[in-house]
Amino acid sequence: MAGVSSTLGIDFGTSNSAVGYAINGVPHLIDVEAGENTLPTALFFDAEEKRIIYGRGAQRSLIGGDEGRYMRALKSLLGTSLMRESRMLLGKRMDFIAIVASFLAELKNRAETATGQTFDRALSGRPVMFHSADAARNAQALTDLTECYHLAGFKDVRFMPEPEAAALANRAVLAPGDLGLIVDIGGGTSDFTLFRQQGDAGIDILASKGLRLGGTDFDRELSLHHVMPHLGMGSQIKHVFGSETHAAPHAVFTDLATWQKIPFLYTREQRRAVDDLAKYAVEPDLLNRLVKVLEDELGHDIAFAVEAGKIAANDTGATAPPEIKLDILERGLRVPLPAAMMAATLNEMANSIAQVATDLVAQADLMPADVNKLIFVGGSSLMGVIDMAMRRAFPQAELHRGAAMTAIVDGLAIAASDAFPAD
Ligand SMILES: Nc1ncnc2c1ncn2[C@@H]1O[C@H](COP(=O)(O)OP(=O)(O)OP(=O)(O)O)[C@@H](O)[C@H]1O
Ligand SMILES: [Mg+2]
Repeated sequence: MAGVSSTLGIDFGTSNSAVGYAINGVPHLIDVEAGENTLPTALFFDAEEKRIIYGRGAQRSLIGGDEGRYMRALKSLLGTSLMRESRMLLGKRMDFIAIVASFLAELKNRAETATGQTFDRALSGRPVMFHSADAARNAQALTDLTECYHLAGFKDVRFMPEPEAAALANRAVLAPGDLGLIVDIGGGTSDFTLFRQQGDAGIDILASKGLRLGGTDFDRELSLHHVMPHLGMGSQIKHVFGSETHAAPHAVFTDLATWQKIPFLYTREQRRAVDDLAKYAVEPDLLNRLVKVLEDELGHDIAFAVEAGKIAANDTGATAPPEIKLDILERGLRVPLPAAMMAATLNEMANSIAQVATDLVAQADLMPADVNKLIFVGGSSLMGVIDMAMRRAFPQAELHRGAAMTAIVDGLAIAASDAFPAD
């Protein structure tokens, strides 16, 4: 069809994904679930029904206690050796390349069903840096994701940095000559693009920069500081012989607080190690909670409780005192999380995110005062600590809130029609 792009724009996010395409240059987002244009990047391998459930349904299965394996934040695994590790899922050996590919294939299917069109090619977003501290892993992540797209049935895929897509979607926010800074704080990464509005000539992307730090890291930090001590982190374990003690090893708590690591904890070896810790614990009540978490596979439920507590503590209009609700672990177990306490825990992370934006502007030979507008997108840009850190770094800039959850896919949809040379 003339004017209709056969390239699908895909924002494959750590927490949420979305797809769209262009009709006569106008972005159209596709409903990937009834009435919803975003899909949580989550899968549930349903052991009973022997099928994979995607998105909100996956979360319902997890919360409902169905038998099976839940996974979220898979994008964070790209580039790591875990991608090539395979495990038995629903009676089949699958590695994480195949798991991510099945999610992308589901997006493709849903887009094709909703539009009655075939999408052979994809224009995918990518963070500026998948791994900002490791160049080899960063390159490997893109290789992995490319392989996932091919396995998902796309003949070809091209990539656009996510904040550049957001700049495209927000080009009308700036007056001609204005300098804008996209601040895209997502689930796994924080990404920045500096761009100038050139009037009729469109926008000029000056530079982009990114950091592997986002909302799932906030969740981990909050969990480690405020929840894991209630499960025995930092607690003393008696030696089998003698009267000496040592602190419980950290690794299991760190993994339990990290979305993408949780599915790997439910092994017989890990359960046995934790049973031993509880047996010799000075505070067995705490370590017994950890035993229960591994036994009943409650890691994701706890991560969701932390995330919900984070969002509640961030809501300045909330009436109830913010807390992390851990009833799933023990009836009535609640951890207070006042806004000031959360800010204290996350301040350092927020400052290191803002520092990347400051560095980007300096590298472009510009001053913070040259930036006219900060354009906030991504779910974690709603965090008060981010707001404060960015305002400190750019006190003169005006703040504009873009479409937090759809700015990137809007930009990808716009760019999709020109992503591949016409054949
Ligand atoms: N109201 C809110 N307040 C604070 N944080 C929020 C809010 N709503 C969502 N978030 C957080 O935003 C994050 C998800 O944002 P988003 O959907 O933009 O990420 P993503 O695009 O999937 O990730 P990435 O771009 O990093 O791959 C999650 O960590 C979530 O907890
Ligand atoms: Mg994103």
